[in-house]
Amino acid sequence: MCGIIGYIGKNNPTEILLEGLKALEYRGYDSSGIALKKDNNIQIVKCVGKIANLEEKLRKEELLDCNIGIAHTRWATHGDPCEENAHPHQIGKITLVHNGIIENAFSIKKRLEKEGVVFHSGTDTEVIAALINQHYHGDMQDAINKTVKEIKGSYALAILNEDENKIYAIRCESPLILGIGKDEYFVTSDIGAILKHTNKYVLLGENEIVELTKDGYTITKDKKSIKRKVEVSNLKSEDASLHGYEHFMMKEINEEPILVDNFIKKYINNINDLPDLTNYKCIHIIGCGSAYYAGMVGKYFFEEDGLKVDIDVASEYRYRNIVYDEKTLVILISQSGETADTIAAMRKAINHKVDTLAIVNVDGSTIARECTYKILIEAGREIAVATTKAFIQQVLVLSLLSYKINPDDKYLDDLKQLPQQLKVLLDKTGFYKKLADIIYKQEDVFFIGRKVDYAISMEGSLKLKEVSYIHSDAYQAGELKHGTISLINEGTIVFGIITDEEIKDKTISNLEEVISRGAVPIYVGTEESGYKNQIIVPKVHKKLQPLLVVPTLQMVAYYVAYKRGCDIDKPRNLAKSVTVE
Ligand code: AGP
Repeated sequence: MCGIIGYIGKNNPTEILLEGLKALEYRGYDSSGIALKKDNNIQIVKCVGKIANLEEKLRKEELLDCNIGIAHTRWATHGDPCEENAHPHQIGKITLVHNGIIENAFSIKKRLEKEGVVFHSGTDTEVIAALINQHYHGDMQDAINKTVKEIKGSYALAILNEDENKIYAIRCESPLILGIGKDEYFVTSDIGAILKHTNKYVLLGENEIVELTKDGYTITKDKKSIKRKVEVSNLKSEDASLHGYEHFMMKEINEEPILVDNFIKKYINNINDLPDLTNYKCIHIIGCGSAYYAGMVGKYFFEEDGLKVDIDVASEYRYRNIVYDEKTLVILISQSGETADTIAAMRKAINHKVDTLAIVNVDGSTIARECTYKILIEAGREIAVATTKAFIQQVLVLSLLSYKINPDDKYLDDLKQLPQQLKVLLDKTGFYKKLADIIYKQEDVFFIGRKVDYAISMEGSLKLKEVSYIHSDAYQAGELKHGTISLINEGTIVFGIITDEEIKDKTISNLEEVISRGAVPIYVGTEESGYKNQIIVPKVHKKLQPLLVVPTLQMVAYYVAYKRGCDIDKPRNLAKSVTVE
């Protein structure tokens, strides 16, 4: 949930670390900080709020002229977002930054306080620094190994020790990679933070200690040397620029037509490169947030294909007592491939010796690496915290997997038109702005739908609420009258997602029920409805229909948030990758 970057090499690290933090800001942005090291001096500058605040503060400081530094952008888990709790944290000779959660931090803190250690923050991170400092008697590897044996939880750490011109790093569950530059080395949560300097990286195994000097690096585990392959990332640093858009969210929505087109071209004549789900007796589809809603769309597709499907959010699935049929396939959907609950759900399946399929965007991520099979959704870097293009690619993968089970020509014909139809829909910006006019002052907005339209409703509702902060909920259309309808006031906006021909009349009558109680309907469908406010998309094969409906709801969410002056790419309280439970 936080972003880490460390640098050691031929250049001064300050600008490199600041740039890196800006590329990592999507991972959390309630406070940030930097530590610079020259000989025995470690200078720490921290700041609450966005990276721009830290940048301004650094401009006013006399900074060490050095070649070593670590930096961090925070999404608070333990301790309020304030300067004292911002990283880096320093105890004695040890200064470090951390991404993750230490579950037994406070019992250790109590013991250390009794032993005279003085803490300055409310964070679990400071406890790690105190432990390493306590175990450090000249051998950092030893001090780190002893510390990680005591702490429980997830961590990615970049560590400075006053006595050495080195950076130490170690990870467990939280992501951290080693960047290999020309006479310079990096550690970072996300390769995107260092793409301007190198695309060569090394994936680190759990509890492997990286020791970085300006001349090179070693990787050890329990003091034994480890050799790791140097990978090359295909991501480009310009993926992190706006290309003229005002927000990454709008840029990424507008990438959808070309991404869909590229993906179709890659697989439509190589559909056998995709796994055959009919080899399995049961399919479990697991994810969090939007990834879960994409999975929900897939569930309806696969059930139509005659498969037995179970679906759950990863945070529930990981604790359920599941009886696995040995011919079960567990599908893990995750843009980042680092979502803690989804990783735990994956490892549960792996421990039960069933096959796992990763549908992910980030190659080299934990879920991509540990699943039996993987399908990369090839959405490119997604920087806006609210997922858009990755969601569309996830649904496209599920749609193609379903097509493979039951191929039909109509699907193929419609598939070829889809990118162009999507482009035409997205170009209607004036239409979405006008629709946003009747929504942005609302306090409550509801979405209703049945089957796939219900799954679309869930995603449409999440998109709206997470970027505009308007309370929004999605309900199975048939559920409203079982209680929620009492919330319908005069003027309440209700989206009716009505694209499924077989049950459209049912949902229209649900829409009429709320209209008769004062609601203002927004009809979303494939044919003229007669309603004043409507979003009409081309009618396509039902296994492709969500790919035209959801982007229109993404556009509405964007313009509502825009009119409300929200921080669209970095909504409050959120982070792009939830790498803690
Ligand atoms: C979606 O807009 C949210 N940012 C969030 O629900 C996200 O989809 C969820 O946290 C899962 O993330 P993942 O796909 O990286 O696992």
